[in-house]
Parts: sequence; structure tokens; C-alpha cells
Amino acid sequence: MLKEVTATRYVTPLREGGSLPGIVEADDLGTYVMKFTGAGQGPRTLVAEVVCGRLAQRLGLRVPELVGIQLDPVIGLGEPDEEVQALLKASGGLNLGMDYLPGSLGFDPLAFGVTPAEAGRVVWFDALVGNVDRSWRNPNLLVWHEKLWLIDHGATMIWHHNWPSAHAAAAKPYDASDHVLSPFAPDVAAAAAELAPLVTRGLLEECVGDVPGEWLGGEPGAMDLGAVRAAYVDVLLERAPSVHDRVTLGEPSRDSASRAPGWLTGDWPHARRGVNR
Ligand SMILES: Nc1ncnc2c1ncn2[C@@H]1O[C@H](COP(=O)(O)OP(=O)(O)O)[C@@H](O)[C@H]1O
Ligand SMILES: [Mg+2]
Repeated sequence: MLKEVTATRYVTPLREGGSLPGIVEADDLGTYVMKFTGAGQGPRTLVAEVVCGRLAQRLGLRVPELVGIQLDPVIGLGEPDEEVQALLKASGGLNLGMDYLPGSLGFDPLAFGVTPAEAGRVVWFDALVGNVDRSWRNPNLLVWHEKLWLIDHGATMIWHHNWPSAHAAAAKPYDASDHVLSPFAPDVAAAAAELAPLVTRGLLEECVGDVPGEWLGGEPGAMDLGAVRAAYVDVLLERAPSVHDRVTLGEPSRDSASRAPGWLTGDWPHARRGVNR
């Protein structure tokens, strides 16, 4: 179960991302980055945030604490921005919150070194959940108190958009050539040896069990909630033991427009040394 709080004030929108998350204050005196059920991408993005966020935390990766946030759209009545008004209106009820990390900075690969071991753990995890949203263009990593924090797992597990074909997802390769940590010599094999044995059915059931049922409904084919939860568990469980064999590192993608710039992929001392500065 996610801890549940109630939003007391909408503070400001965060315009860097695509989904227009907002900063809110809640009745536990916490400040959260809130992701809305009424956002264009729909509640499946929130499901992905919870499954991946919980799983990453249980594997020892840093992810801001997740909460459920009850929203009464009335708190947005004074909001001047029409887009924000519409979002709040469409999102009454339970939404997702992530603990706001005050003073955190977006990850800059030129300013912050990552060890091959840590880079390997992040790349391995992203391969497991099929995260396509950790590129050098859009790292979705924050640096807070000199440590790396993972955010934004909404664009993962693409297979959950089509369960009937999801069985094929277990063998899907992962191209990490655009991954922002690719230049840090990620030790994916070591990460797999450490983390894959931890990904058990029991652990996955706990993580998937934390997803609020109201975000899981509406699957075609009248899948009941138990079947939907089991479907998430099955793909990840099957994927975990061998996904490291299907990770492509370093080989720039054929699409030259998306190739990482030379200063990122070139002979770059911090990346080579893998030193945390
Ligand atoms: N927990 C957090 N603490 C501080 N800032 C955050 C946090 N989560 C997100 N942000 C900021 O908000 C931006 C958008 O959030 P993100 O989760 O990436 O949403 P989107 O799906 O819109 O890309 C991030 O790039 C980051 O700058
Ligand atoms: Mg983002």
C-alpha cells in the first residue's frame, strides 16, 4: 500500500517534463511532485511509476518516496493557468506523489561522475523495465546531497499497453547506446549478478501490490485486477535472469540525429575514472 495524504495547496507546475507534473503541499506537511491521473498519458503512466519506483527502491536504487495523494480539484480554483485548471479538474481522487527533493539538480554527465558499478545497476534496472527515458537528452536523474536519484518511470514497460502480446516482451532486447550513463562504462554483468537473484515472484508481487486498484482497471478483454497484477509480475520475472545478455552498450544508434555528442561519448576523464565528484 502507498501511504496516502491529501493535497492542501497547489504550488506550481513543473514545466520541464512532458506531463505537466506539479508541486503540491499535503496535510502531512510534506511537499510532493504530483503526477495526475487526468494527464493525457492516462493512469498507466502512474502504474509504471509505482511498479518501477518500488522495485528500484527494493533493489537499493535511490527513488524519492512515493505516496498516494487525494486531490479535491477545488484547490485549483484560483489557478490562473487554464491548462493546469483543466488537469486538476480531471484528476479528482487519488493521484501519485513523489517526495520533492529540494535543491536537487538535473544530472549533468560533465559535472558528476558515476562509478561503473552504479552505472551498471541503473542500466540493468532500466533494461529490465524497458525504460526508454534515460537518454543524454532527457536523463530523468537528479543529483541530491551528492547522490544520484532516479525519477520518471512513466515511459517503461511498453508491453503493458498490449497484454495479449506481452509474452514476447520477456525476450525484448534493450538498446542502451543512448543511455545517459552509457559513457560511464556500466558494469552490467556485475549488476545482473547482484540484482537479478533479488527479483523474485514475492518481491514483484509486493511492488505490483502497491499499485492502487483504481489505476489498473479498464483493460480490454475483461481482465480482472488480479490477472493484470499477475501479468506485470510474469513479464518482469521472466525478463530478470537474462536481460543483461540483451543489453547493447556504447554502439551509437543508426539514427545519426539521436547520436550522443562527442563530448559525451569521447575520451572523457571523469567517465573513464568513474569518480564521484
Ligand atoms: N522528486 C523530485 N524532486 C525535485 N524535482 C523533481 C522531482 N521529480 C521531478 N522533478 C523535476 O520535475 C521535472 C519533471 O518531472 P518528471 O518526473 O521527469 O516528469 P515528466 O513525465 O513530465 O518528464 C524533472 O525533470 C525534475 O526537474
Ligand atoms: Mg521526465
